[in-house]
Amino acid sequence: MPARKTTSATHRGARVRESPDGGLGIADPAKLLSIRPAVEPDAEEISALIYSQLHHRAPSTSEPAPAEFLAGFAPPTIREHIGNRRYRYLVALAGGQVVGVLGVRDGQHLLHLFVAESFQRRGIARALWNRIRLELLAGSGEVSLSVNSSVYAVSVYERFGFTAAGPQVQGAGVVYIPMRLTLRDSHR
Ligand SMILES: CC(C)(COP(=O)(O)OP(=O)(O)OC[C@H]1O[C@@H](n2cnc3c(N)ncnc32)[C@H](O)[C@@H]1OP(=O)(O)O)[C@@H](O)C(=O)NCCC(=O)NCCS
Repeated sequence: MPARKTTSATHRGARVRESPDGGLGIADPAKLLSIRPAVEPDAEEISALIYSQLHHRAPSTSEPAPAEFLAGFAPPTIREHIGNRRYRYLVALAGGQVVGVLGVRDGQHLLHLFVAESFQRRGIARALWNRIRLELLAGSGEVSLSVNSSVYAVSVYERFGFTAAGPQVQGAGVVYIPMRLTLRDSHR
């Protein structure tokens, strides 16, 4: 049987190994990572992870984030999304804990991308992105994707190929930059 093809890269000193099936390992075995589709029991952990990083998502100067916005990240909402075919959620796990999440709506809008603070800058968002990218392109040769990026994440989305699609939007406790990307399958 042929050896499984892997690619490797270095992120801030931690060697990250990525395989085509989305499996991912870091040199430190205690921090072994894997990526899989989310299931409904993950909702609490996903929600807690998102809330822990929400200060980047809504860095409003004065107004508090509206309750409606916050409810979009609550466990019942995330659970409902995971059980709904319109949404696709992937989670990155380390030691059995959810340390990264990516959510897409209708195969067209990147709704959530969050990585736990102590796991950032190690290639986890890139690994989640690579996996969803392949999934989206498997269904169609060309996909147009949008994201409402936090100010913090603009450079990350630019690394993925997104470009700003309009000016920064600010109001009602929420700040974001609309961004877009057209994905094309170069092998078709
Ligand atoms: C944005 C976020 C998900 C990135 O996760 P991450 O696992 O740290 O990202 P990665 O290590 O996979 O980096 C992905 C790419 O972005 C770059 N990058 C990561 N963080 C960056 C930063 N703060 N500034 C500039 N570039 C950055 C990396 O160099 C990497 O580039 P490459 O893959 O071309 O080498 C994470 O920082 C986060 O959760 N931030 C807070 C929440 C947030 O703003 N989410 C976005 C909501 S729209």
